[in-house]
Amino acid sequence: MKMRVLSTEDVKKVVEMKPVIEAVEQVYMQKGRNEAVVWPTVFYEFEPGVSDMDIKSGYLKDAGLFGHKTVSLFTQNQEKGLPELLGCIMVFDAATGAPLGLLDGSYITGVRTGAAGAIGAKYLARKDSKTLFILGAGHQATFQVAAMLTEFPQLETIYVADPIDHENAVSFVNSLPQRLKDGFGIDVSGISVRAAEDLAETVSESDIIITVTPSKEPRIKKEWVSPGTHFSCIGADMAGKEEIDPALFAGAVVFVDDKFHCIEAGELEIPLKKDMIKEEDIAGEIGSLILGDAKGRISDEQITIYDATGMALLDIAAAKAALELAEEKGIGQVVEI
Ligand SMILES: NC(=O)c1ccc[n+]([C@@H]2O[C@H](COP(=O)([O-])OP(=O)(O)OC[C@H]3O[C@@H](n4cnc5c(N)ncnc54)[C@H](O)[C@@H]3O)[C@@H](O)[C@H]2O)c1
Repeated sequence: MKMRVLSTEDVKKVVEMKPVIEAVEQVYMQKGRNEAVVWPTVFYEFEPGVSDMDIKSGYLKDAGLFGHKTVSLFTQNQEKGLPELLGCIMVFDAATGAPLGLLDGSYITGVRTGAAGAIGAKYLARKDSKTLFILGAGHQATFQVAAMLTEFPQLETIYVADPIDHENAVSFVNSLPQRLKDGFGIDVSGISVRAAEDLAETVSESDIIITVTPSKEPRIKKEWVSPGTHFSCIGADMAGKEEIDPALFAGAVVFVDDKFHCIEAGELEIPLKKDMIKEEDIAGEIGSLILGDAKGRISDEQITIYDATGMALLDIAAAKAALELAEEKGIGQVVEI
């Protein structure tokens, strides 16, 4: 039996933003048609707060695939010259159970997470949106900007803030145009890209806000938010994480990627516990909105929120597309197992 192995550099050669956005939309639709299954997450702490791992997995019936992404966090790895966070994706053929590929997970995670944030905006934000605000200036933030510019090339202004380190936001913004050009072939010379100086002012000016920090306290207050704003909440992917005022959920149009995981561990977790929103107020999963089975924004005044904790199904679909292109281009190593 043969299987293709793709390193980080191989993955970068075969993963592009637009096809991943399409693959992620397909996964959401498969989930909306009950053709996708998310299996329970396995989480194990080797040494609490120091080293842990999680296995997220699932089955895409329609695509005939199953697989998993295993991510480990070993905080003392730097001393050993290794990254703290490591991850790999395995894809299997659901008709035979045979493994199809093993891929480094970091780059695919970034691209598919960017795609998730942008798809939330595509289906829920106002079509005339011109100003994007990214809360967070870390690894994921670049992918969020790249995906948004792929779906919303009409954006005129992009603000980036780092709630705990303003200087980091400034250097992020300074290097962003080159990184977008090198990594995604995106030219931002006609767009104003700025580090946010005043959070309240920036929030009130923004049409679309993507939150992508590991914050455990709300960083965006309801009174700063203008009517009609869309939020894609990406950073909160574990119980206890929270980025926006829970009061924003009251009266908002709220969609999720996976209801179970968002209630347990998404931005929704705390507003639900605080009774700011009830489970029955969740408008649905994004797949039902894409399929036209649920109603999204109906006025330019509504606040819309897309809560996405991420699903391994996205990694599996993006990894399969990468494996196909890698086969076509002869990239990676084929190993006998
Ligand atoms: N939903 C998903 O599918 C998905 C996928 C990948 C990552 N994530 C989550 O996105 C978040 C960001 O990931 P990343 O890889 O960009 O992280 P990162 O560490 O590279 O960057 C985090 C950013 O947030 C800032 N920050 C750090 N601690 C903070 C705090 N307590 N409050 C406010 N800001 C803080 C940092 O200064 C930085 O700007 C994490 O919570 C991660 O788990 C979600």
